[in-house]
Amino acid sequence: DNIIPFYGKHQSGITTKPQDHIYFAALDVTATDKTALIQLFKDWTKAAALMTEGKPVGELSSNGLLPPKDTGEAAGLSPSQLTITFGVGPSLFVKDGVDRFGLKGKQPKELVDLPKFPLDALQEEWSGGDLCIQACADDPQVVFHAVRNLIRIARGKAILRWAQPGFQRTKQADPKERTPRNLFGFKDGTVNPDVNNEKVMNEQVWVQPGDGPNWLAGGSYLVVRRIQMFIEVWDRTHLQEQENTFGRYRDNGAPLGQKNEFDSPDFSQKNKNGEYVIPADSHMRVAHGDGTQQILRRGYSYSNGMDGKTGNFDAGLLFICFQRKPSNQFIPIQQRLAKMDKLNEYISHRGSAIFACLPGTKPGGFIGETLF
Ligand code: HEM
Repeated sequence: DNIIPFYGKHQSGITTKPQDHIYFAALDVTATDKTALIQLFKDWTKAAALMTEGKPVGELSSNGLLPPKDTGEAAGLSPSQLTITFGVGPSLFVKDGVDRFGLKGKQPKELVDLPKFPLDALQEEWSGGDLCIQACADDPQVVFHAVRNLIRIARGKAILRWAQPGFQRTKQADPKERTPRNLFGFKDGTVNPDVNNEKVMNEQVWVQPGDGPNWLAGGSYLVVRRIQMFIEVWDRTHLQEQENTFGRYRDNGAPLGQKNEFDSPDFSQKNKNGEYVIPADSHMRVAHGDGTQQILRRGYSYSNGMDGKTGNFDAGLLFICFQRKPSNQFIPIQQRLAKMDKLNEYISHRGSAIFACLPGTKPGGFIGETLF
């Protein structure tokens, strides 16, 4: 019951209901030949399939003279709904003008570095990557074990570039599994395309045949932004200002002017002063736009201890979203937000990357088989 199937038409971890924990890793490929890259994906597929069933990636013990194949810290643990999702970044195709693996002709038009947005404060150490691994599960040790073993298997072929664990409230703390709250105390994830509606997923999330090179059909684009949230500043801001910033009530998550979390917002409603009840610069309103651009948000909170020597927390949102076509979805939404979102006073985008998450595979096949 704690197992989410690894094999399938699509990779898991995209339309999967968000588990409690994430460990996200971006890697750089050090191998220089395509055969090594293919072998890496074959080895990763096997190991990922085993770990999602709660099995070790190889023997837990050795003859005593060798390190055991599996690192051991997940021994005896439930698979905890582990999903492992693999993606490839633009730099896997072409880096510094070099067609590294003869894949240049297969690079989709959509798989290019994101444009620079106003207010971006991106740091190299939290950005980019040739490959990504997104591991999600209901246990922090299970997700760490998954990424750790995949990185270990990649030894000599790829190395970590950056990594970020994340969390949300656990199912244990909220057995009713209501919408989780972000670190600003607001319900986050209320409005999202319906993952149970196949038609909507095909329109918004899954790359369709003919969208670009067919190797990606059934896959999806992942955009990740590591967004620092200035929680100390937020905590000195009065409640009404906080609610105007999002366009929702903090207590129950209802749109301003409505009663319940899932009520439809009324964007035309005005107050006595002739101002919109859901302010023109509120995050929800600006993100919504005219409603034609949608993304599947699947982010997690992060807290990385202190930010330098400031005495402030380094905490925020590991924003992750999936979509069929970034140029029609994340990019225009973020262009609007960067220009006029009131939330910008309280956040700063520190990291960024884009990956094409490969389609799923069957037992005997491997993730990436359509690309190479
Ligand atoms: C809605 C928080 C960044 C896109 C919301 C809501 C909250 C929220 C509380 C309202 C409840 C909900 O529907 O989930 C945040 C925080 C962010 C952040 C704290 C940064 C730290 C972003 C970014 C994007 C984005 C970078 C995309 C570029 C959206 C969208 C909605 C939304 C599309 C739904 C709008 C609608 O009602 O149609 N966000 N968000 N958010 N956010 Fe964000």
